[in-house]
Amino acid sequence: MRATEVATASPEETEALGAALGRAARGGELLGLVGELGAGKTCLVRGLAAGLGIDPAHVHSPSFTIATEYRGGRLPLTHVDLYRLARPDDEEPLLRDALYGAGVAAVEWFDRLAPVPDDEVLLITLRFTTGEGRAIEFAPRGERHRALLERAVLA
Ligand SMILES: Nc1ncnc2c1ncn2[C@@H]1O[C@H](COP(=O)(O)OP(=O)(O)OP(=O)(O)O)[C@@H](O)[C@H]1O
Ligand SMILES: [Mg+2]
Repeated sequence: MRATEVATASPEETEALGAALGRAARGGELLGLVGELGAGKTCLVRGLAAGLGIDPAHVHSPSFTIATEYRGGRLPLTHVDLYRLARPDDEEPLLRDALYGAGVAAVEWFDRLAPVPDDEVLLITLRFTTGEGRAIEFAPRGERHRALLERAVLA
């Protein structure tokens, strides 16, 4: 599947992109976020929350918890941050179970999970460009993620 790249010039633009995904989500989607420290993964998840009707002020990079679930929106949002995961292999079966629910799951540092070739996921890779610029690449795997990308970003 061809990837799509979008350039954002500010945190607000990255949030807006996340919000478009949140508005277009139908439940059961997994967003796998990849990018260095400060690339804007949480910023995008904050927008995603807003797009789902969840107060974005609640969304932070969790320091001690690995996963946080936000309810009260149109669909529940599960926010996972694998940065501090010591031994991903031990946690992995548990984690993977939690990822495909009725709502939307967003996983920061998704690349810390061992790759499963036929995983269905919308892979989102954020790269620094210049100043506040970011290049955000979307690579969908599976029909529901192709459809989500189509509705949210390409339409
Ligand atoms: N175009 C942009 N998109 C997103 N964030 C931007 C952009 N330009 C500047 N920023 C700033 O970069 C920082 C991104 O922080 P954020 O917590 O979202 O990154 P992260 O990828 O989640 O990092 P971590 O790996 O530490 O969790 C914020 O301070 C934000 O204001
Ligand atoms: Mg973060």
